[in-house]
Amino acid sequence: MRENDFIVSKTDTRGIITYGNPIFIEFSGYTEQELLGAPHNIIRHPDMPRAAFNLVWSTIQSGQECFAYVKNMSKDGGFYWVFTHITPDFSLDGKIIGYYSVRRCPKRSAIEKIEPVYRDMLAAEQAAVGKNPIEAGTKVLTDLLKSTGLGYEELIFAL
Ligand SMILES: Cc1cc2nc3c(=O)[nH]c(=O)nc-3n(C[C@H](O)[C@H](O)[C@H](O)COP(=O)(O)O)c2cc1C
Repeated sequence: MRENDFIVSKTDTRGIITYGNPIFIEFSGYTEQELLGAPHNIIRHPDMPRAAFNLVWSTIQSGQECFAYVKNMSKDGGFYWVFTHITPDFSLDGKIIGYYSVRRCPKRSAIEKIEPVYRDMLAAEQAAVGKNPIEAGTKVLTDLLKSTGLGYEELIFAL
């Protein structure tokens, strides 16, 4: 991913893609027709822990913005890391009518730090047989935040 690229997409309230800019389409490897109307998890990479998306969704559904590092998968099975900012899109009367995401190229050093965190979260989710995997994945992150004394956003921006 080139440094000045902005990968932009929009979804409805359920995460169905309603818009993708040309760079979003190019990186995904899909055609615009394949993307529009598809759930945003069409580019989900299996290395991503579910707890990371759970955090994103609970934050944006509560009306707040969210920052996250995300590993995405293109149609040919390749991957690309992004640093994403997701915001709710509000109607004039304050209702959430969709979501908007702008992604940038992350620093390599940040990827190197977040990758093992996601790996541990995913391992905890996979080991949580008969238990709640999202809780197990989230615990890895909250334990890390406790041990560093940082809030989630502080951690993300310190990477
Ligand atoms: C505006 C917006 C942008 C999103 N961007 C991505 C993305 O780039 N990659 C991704 O895997 N999920 C993205 N998601 C989250 C997906 O909707 C989905 O929750 C995630 O892929 C996990 O799939 P699952 O919910 O089926 O487990 C985005 C969601 C919204 C609302």
